[in-house]
Amino acid sequence: MIDKDRLPKHVGIIMDGNGRWAKQRGLPRSQGHKQGAKTFKLICDYANEIGIENLTFYAFSTENWRRPSDEVAAIMQLFREYLADAQKRKKENEQKGMRIRFIGDLGEKSGVPKDIQRLVRKMEKESLDKTKTVVNIAVNYGGRQEITRAVQELAARVKEGKLEPDSITQEDISALLYTAGQPDPDLIIRPSGEYRLSNFLIWQAAYSEFWYSDILWPDFTTEDFDRALSDYANRSRRFGGI
Ligand code: IPE
Ligand code: IPE
Ligand code: MG
Repeated sequence: MIDKDRLPKHVGIIMDGNGRWAKQRGLPRSQGHKQGAKTFKLICDYANEIGIENLTFYAFSTENWRRPSDEVAAIMQLFREYLADAQKRKKENEQKGMRIRFIGDLGEKSGVPKDIQRLVRKMEKESLDKTKTVVNIAVNYGGRQEITRAVQELAARVKEGKLEPDSITQEDISALLYTAGQPDPDLIIRPSGEYRLSNFLIWQAAYSEFWYSDILWPDFTTEDFDRALSDYANRSRRFGGI
């Protein structure tokens, strides 16, 4: 068991390796995504149990539209199923104090299917009294898109004469990101043997600790998560100091 105050307050997870997991088994890539969705639920519940307050799961990037349309459709179908299931398990999630949010561009012109947009909006309206864990699911998310959106909003305020360019602060920018009000990720986990951020939380990750592993996401277990947490607990974060 890890000391409560050595636990990260926010963990970001890049759920990668679904396709390779399927390939290893001679299965279509969609089966890898399906298995990856199961791992997501497992890690989500486990993190909530042990008291992680904020989680961000990277599920679909603004660049993932480059994939074949049948793969994109299979991933969208999984979101649909997840949203329907979450609706059914509303009480259960409430009891766990788990609040599910979607971050990314899920607007009308986003290309995300309309029924998914609607399901997400419906879910967003339901607030909780006591939240133990906030779960962000990043869908059609890109860090550059997120920052661009913040810049556009600031520029609009300047244009309206409500804001002086010189007075723009880092906090102003943070407050306009999807993660506004949440702490920056302390720890970012990327399985599947890739060593990059792939446009994930690029502003927020300025001082995040990284944890990499060769395990493919569908094979990722609570023991792997524990290992990442215990490695994190032993890191020395200096934030530029000594
Ligand atoms: C991550 O797994 C899921 C998404 C990006 C949607 P991948 O589909 O990228 O799996 P690999 O990297 O091809 O193995
Ligand atoms: C990052 O994985 C995006 C998600 C996990 C949703 P990718 O598989 O898309 O990243 P790259 O292309 O290997 O950088
Ligand atoms: Mg990948």
